[in-house]
Amino acid sequence: MAELSVEVAGIKFKNPIWVASGEPTSTYDKIKRGIDAGAGAVVAKSYCAAYTTGHETKRPFPLAKFCILGYDRKPVTGKNIPKFYTNYCRSGVIQWCRDDEDQWVELLGKAQKYASQSDSYVVGSIFGSKVIDDMTRFAKKMEQAGLKMLEVDLGCPNVEKMVEKGALLKVAQDYFTVTREICKSVSIPVFIKLSPQQADLAATSKGVKEVGGAGVTCMNRVLGLAIDIDNARPFIWGWAGVGGPWMLPISIGWVSRISETVPGFPIVGSNGVYDWQDVVQFHMAGASAVQICSTVMVKGYSMLKQTIEGLNGFLNAKGYRSVQDIIGVATKASINYDQMYRTPEYREKAVVDPEKCIDCGKCLEVCWFEAMQENDGVCQVDENICQGCYNCRVVCPIEGCVTMKPAASLVK
Ligand SMILES: Cc1cc2nc3c(=O)[nH]c(=O)nc-3n(C[C@H](O)[C@H](O)[C@H](O)COP(=O)(O)O)c2cc1C
Ligand code: SF4
Ligand code: SF4
Repeated sequence: MAELSVEVAGIKFKNPIWVASGEPTSTYDKIKRGIDAGAGAVVAKSYCAAYTTGHETKRPFPLAKFCILGYDRKPVTGKNIPKFYTNYCRSGVIQWCRDDEDQWVELLGKAQKYASQSDSYVVGSIFGSKVIDDMTRFAKKMEQAGLKMLEVDLGCPNVEKMVEKGALLKVAQDYFTVTREICKSVSIPVFIKLSPQQADLAATSKGVKEVGGAGVTCMNRVLGLAIDIDNARPFIWGWAGVGGPWMLPISIGWVSRISETVPGFPIVGSNGVYDWQDVVQFHMAGASAVQICSTVMVKGYSMLKQTIEGLNGFLNAKGYRSVQDIIGVATKASINYDQMYRTPEYREKAVVDPEKCIDCGKCLEVCWFEAMQENDGVCQVDENICQGCYNCRVVCPIEGCVTMKPAASLVK
């Protein structure tokens, strides 16, 4: 069995699979279910400090609305939910908050005690707001309740729609002010959860580190609009958070960029996990631990156990001794455009097997470099022009008809 434990900001977690902050972590019982399913940590639903001190009046009706869109961009249910689904939804971020913050902190403390019995952790989460005093007071209370780590959600996709209620805009300066103040108020590690709606998550991460942050969670979802063309209006009545496994490459890209820009700064991956393969991608990009929300909402807590087992199986099958062995390996293997030009293996040419070619003409249509030519009922590649772009191989309907060969001899 491979070693699944990871160290994140000085704390040893029994495994890197965490439940992300959201509806599946919004009560004591739900946090317990995440712990029972084997999660290395459970990040509690973010608490909206501003809403407890008169800066916001609680809404009488729920805001929550969950909608999963399929490959045709229309709502799907049950067995029709595909792997790369879109989660288009609004959280019940406001109405669930308890009036009494002490009650929530008490439950978190109790949940941490329960988690300790399974060698797991509860991470306290605070929803970023303009009311910094509320946030620091809340952070202190969470620390006193026995929590060992905090996360501050500055990435909520819906804040643009809640700015007038005290939510923070996603500008870097807000991140730094909040991080500095919260980190001054507690001695436990504070992670800042980033938003992809920010211009440069790597630069922000660097700033977060400079003002005392222990690490970043990369990243939350985005705000978007999905339109029901049959009824000429948005699904679920308007704007919502947009996420789901299709977003994984964007999240992975930022994790990789942050790990290069701020080497050694702990990154917890979030946004886009469907299964253990996606977790492996996050690690290979540079994340030390990985959080999951949407797929827990869709598949239930049991997917956590499957994900942990899948990760373990992968490490064993590939001969890795630990999760640590794969952290950042793909980021290190990634080369820039200049290096690509100098890498002989990068230079390839397409070759058409005349025995297999059925002269359907598809490759001729999509060779954007005019390298594919037709000759006597079969397609042929002009080696001197071919860029090795793969597009003919992508469209060719005949398996194995187009292959690539190295063009190392052309490299100076
Ligand atoms: C319904 C819902 C509620 C969420 N609530 C919170 C929250 O309170 N605090 C927070 O930091 N993130 C929240 N998130 C964001 C998730 O923690 C997670 O970062 C995001 O959904 C991307 O990960 P995923 O692809 O695993 O869902 C919420 C997400 C969803 C879908
Ligand atoms: S690899 Fe690209 S450039 Fe070369 S023949 Fe195929 S489509 Fe054309
Ligand atoms: S797409 Fe394939 S089968 Fe069709 S013409 Fe090109 S090489 Fe031949």
